[in-house]
Amino acid sequence: MRIERTLISEEEIATRIADMGAQISADYEGKDLMIVGVLKGAFMVMADLARAITIPVEFDFMAVSSYGAATQTSGVVRILKDLDTEIEGRHVLIIEDIIDSGLTLSYLIRSLRVRRPASLTIATLLRKTGIQRVPLDVAYVGFEIGEEFVVGYGLDYAGKLRNLPYIGILDESSI
Ligand code: PRP
Repeated sequence: MRIERTLISEEEIATRIADMGAQISADYEGKDLMIVGVLKGAFMVMADLARAITIPVEFDFMAVSSYGAATQTSGVVRILKDLDTEIEGRHVLIIEDIIDSGLTLSYLIRSLRVRRPASLTIATLLRKTGIQRVPLDVAYVGFEIGEEFVVGYGLDYAGKLRNLPYIGILDESSI
């Protein structure tokens, strides 16, 4: 597995995450905020974004799987780990690493909305431009990207490369 090139550097990620954290802190000032990371991919953005948020915040995690080992979405979403916490009446911010087809978040939003949170909002580091198969209202987007298969900063190929500190484009001929 080889990285063809860096798409978003460590510095660019840090700068954007600082901005997103400041914006989220301002928007939720005085509110009881719970951030929900969608594992596994979101663990890195969750850790960095949480440190850029300056208001009190609680954490929870969900784990879902939509891709298996493939590079294309299957459209099948499985909940592998549900929230530990009740979210009724809470302000919930879901944190994702990437929105591709949008099917994962669309499913998650539908399953969390019935629990009647006070608000339910999405923050994602990356969104692939214009290819969502379902309409999705996303409040915070770090970067709009193209259709390339990206890895690093939480994103994997076949379980690997999540630990890269930047977002890279995988050289698919090296797989
Ligand atoms: C990735 C990513 C999102 C989802 C986005 O997760 O973290 O959850 O795919 O794709 P979509 O918009 O097409 O639904 P994945 O299923 O690869 O699991 P992982 O986070 O454990 O790597």
